[in-house]
Amino acid sequence: MSVFQDLKKYKGLLAIVFFLTLGNTIGELYLPRLLSLIVDNGIAVEDVQYVLKIGGIMLIVTLLTILVRGSASFFSAKAAMAFSRDLRKRIFNKVNHMTFDETETLGISSLITRTTNDVGHIEQFVLLMMRPILRAPLQFVGGLVMAYLTHRRLTAIVLISMPIIFVLIYFVIRVVIPFFPQLQKALDRVNLLLRQRLTGLKVVRAFSRDEEEEATFDQANNQYYQLSTRINNTMSTVQPILAFVVSVTTVIAVYFGAKFIVDGTMNIGELMAFIQYTAQVMTGLVMMSRMLTIIPRTSTSISRVKEVIDYPSRKVGGTTRLNESMYAIEAKDLTFYYPGANLPALSKINFSLKAGEVLGIIGGTGSGKSTFLKLLMQFYEPTEGDLLINGIPINEINTDDVRQRLSYVPQQNFFFSESVRGNMQYSNPDITDEKIIEDLTVAKAREFLPNDNPLDSKVVRGGANFSGGQRQRLAISRALARDANVYIFDDSFSALDYRTDYEIRQALEDRLEGVMTIIVAQRVATIRHADKILVLEDGEVKGYGSHDDLLAHNPVYREIALSQGEEEVSTDESKA
Ligand SMILES: Nc1ncnc2c1ncn2[C@@H]1O[C@H](COP(=O)(O)OP(=O)(O)O)[C@@H](O)[C@H]1O
Ligand SMILES: [Mg+2]
Repeated sequence: MSVFQDLKKYKGLLAIVFFLTLGNTIGELYLPRLLSLIVDNGIAVEDVQYVLKIGGIMLIVTLLTILVRGSASFFSAKAAMAFSRDLRKRIFNKVNHMTFDETETLGISSLITRTTNDVGHIEQFVLLMMRPILRAPLQFVGGLVMAYLTHRRLTAIVLISMPIIFVLIYFVIRVVIPFFPQLQKALDRVNLLLRQRLTGLKVVRAFSRDEEEEATFDQANNQYYQLSTRINNTMSTVQPILAFVVSVTTVIAVYFGAKFIVDGTMNIGELMAFIQYTAQVMTGLVMMSRMLTIIPRTSTSISRVKEVIDYPSRKVGGTTRLNESMYAIEAKDLTFYYPGANLPALSKINFSLKAGEVLGIIGGTGSGKSTFLKLLMQFYEPTEGDLLINGIPINEINTDDVRQRLSYVPQQNFFFSESVRGNMQYSNPDITDEKIIEDLTVAKAREFLPNDNPLDSKVVRGGANFSGGQRQRLAISRALARDANVYIFDDSFSALDYRTDYEIRQALEDRLEGVMTIIVAQRVATIRHADKILVLEDGEVKGYGSHDDLLAHNPVYREIALSQGEEEVSTDESKA
């Protein structure tokens, strides 16, 4: 897909800019001609009537030229900005549908730089190109033609300076081109460090790594600075040299022009016009050289943006529609490798779950619990074996159909910076305030919200104004807000004290009757009442059955339970 395809939408605007620029350039080419007429046919022979007549025409042409130039600039800015808005939208939509590992491959910071800075470069390019692309060559050629019409031999003399300019521009561009990809990479890194620094603020502070962080950032920032000064220094040599060549050319024109005037083959007015035409030819050249120097920078940005919009997104899920509710989940030798991993994160997992049942998954960190949930949510597809939904392999089912039937409490909670109500509506846009209060009460989140207007209280910075346990309770409420067939809790009770954990699970048992519930935990107490418990270790199933079953027959489960003091207690209540 072309980066510039959205420009097509603005054909009308572009055509307007084209004609306005054409008028602008013709006006500018006509003015020196009028000037030479005034000088040679009016002033030289003291014909006041003639001077006034041509002077009047000059005034009108000047005013028209200014008007036309102003409107060309207005409409071109309008088109360029609309274009960049559309381009940003295209990138966003693309990223929005990428899988997790795809965004990781491109890098989140890099995606941000590409959407902002790189699109900015392309917008500037479009803006800078729209008018000069017509005006520069027109002024260059038109100026030459007019100069030639004014005086042939003088034009031939002046033309000698042109090759110098071409050679100069060629060398600068050759030197500068290789630096631009490096420059954008350096900017990516600056953004990456800033982002890490901001998200990892607490860790940085807690380990008092401020100084090291600053040093790393300094280094990346300096690298960016050095690269950009290097490019800038090279580019900035162009302008003074060009200006010098232009001045020298003018001096040459005046020198020979004076001789031609003495010879009687040229008039004073003609020489004045001639000098203005040379200036226009040079301006045309300078404009073209500027266009050439922004091409390398822009082409870097274009390829970076293209990489995103042309990214061959892996399609997760299939086309089979799920017309009924989800009533059965079954894993058959389910095996999964993360992209590029040598060892499986899940290996030959088997279990089955039906509506009304609770599945508990227990295992240490890194045992594959969250990975299984990601497969169920179709963030990834199984590598081998099957994960069946109502008997259909999950990779054949439409992703929306699957996700709409799930409600999920992630291990790492994230909230949007808006009201509690807004966050609850995120999982169910049609939810009423009464229902929200009900769900907050079930998850025991109502009690730590203020009595007055609890739903209007603000959640800030992803939920930073609540404690870990409070965030978990809010996240549980949010999951309950949605009417789903499967409720998934990924380690969602870990930050709760035993009593709250127990109370919430009691309330959930009534609330989630008839649907499927999957509870991932590291605490036996959290899952002991589940109908079936899956014991995971290093991606493998080490046990599968009820709590009593496993406690009696499964050494791994018994060890976990014993280590958590489970054998001494018969109920959760005594713990609280
Ligand atoms: N995005 C990922 N890419 C590669 N490996 C991953 C990714 N996420 C998790 N893993 C690996 O998969 C294994 C299981 O992780 P996970 O399912 O998150 O464990 P947990 O049981 O703690 O939820 C771990 O060894 C982890 O390093
Ligand atoms: Mg996990």
